[in-house]
Amino acid sequence: MNEVANVAPQAKTIMEARGITKRFQGLVSVDKVSFSLAENEILGLIGPNGAGKTTLVNMIGGTLKPNEGDLLFEGERINDVSPYRRAHLGIARTFQIMKPFPGMSVLENVAVGALFGRDGGEKSMAKAREIAREWITFTGLGQRMDAHADALGGPDRKRLEFAKALAMGPKLLLLDEVMAGLNHVEVDEMVELIKKIRARGVTLLVIEHVIKAIRSLSDRVMVLHHGERIAEGDPALVLADPRVVEAYLGKRRT
Ligand SMILES: Nc1ncnc2c1ncn2[C@@H]1O[C@H](COP(=O)(O)OP(=O)(O)O)[C@@H](O)[C@H]1O
Ligand SMILES: [Mg+2]
Repeated sequence: MNEVANVAPQAKTIMEARGITKRFQGLVSVDKVSFSLAENEILGLIGPNGAGKTTLVNMIGGTLKPNEGDLLFEGERINDVSPYRRAHLGIARTFQIMKPFPGMSVLENVAVGALFGRDGGEKSMAKAREIAREWITFTGLGQRMDAHADALGGPDRKRLEFAKALAMGPKLLLLDEVMAGLNHVEVDEMVELIKKIRARGVTLLVIEHVIKAIRSLSDRVMVLHHGERIAEGDPALVLADPRVVEAYLGKRRT
């Protein structure tokens, strides 16, 4: 009837991958993967171990270069942009295997994030520390502010990674299994924190094995299997897709 009135405004794309491929010694880890992220969206990324999820994050963050394909951020091709420059553009990520700066406190680790973040980061150390304190408190590490980063247990290391990435003030935040090792209560808390980050306008790519978290957070879910994108779309539909159940859930039980 009224064909014009119901047209939704087109969500703006912040990041796009066009057929990106990564090979290691001839073996394909990410195979011609294409997808885009709309501004302020949460895309959940799942897939069995070895599916290529971390490799994909490494390519978006810039620590690995695709062998083929293009990566675009805010419309600009970033294939040849260094990780350091990508941080300035507003891309931040957590590391699945956490490497805190040895000998540095939680506060100092996160302050480094603030110093190297978006738009060149915060210029003064005092300001960087102030930002760091806020994010450390936000992620629930407030009691460990002055602890040596190396002394943290697994879940607290995840919180430190999260705080460090947040201190970079990202537009796009890539979370690589930040809930691994957390108990049920802690998972729920992390889900709420991620929702708060999104409410501030951040776009998120969330890699997680905790399906209830993926279900509760994601606007869309994408599934990788042997480096290929095998499904993408509405979380309820994707998680019920027999190919996904077979590839992902089936394999997890073995
Ligand atoms: N630096 C590397 N050198 C060689 N092979 C790698 C490297 N990084 C990842 N791979 C391989 O790429 C595949 C995908 O790994 P990864 O991206 O870590 O998967 P996921 O994060 O989904 O568990 C695996 O087969 C892994 O062994
Ligand atoms: Mg991984």
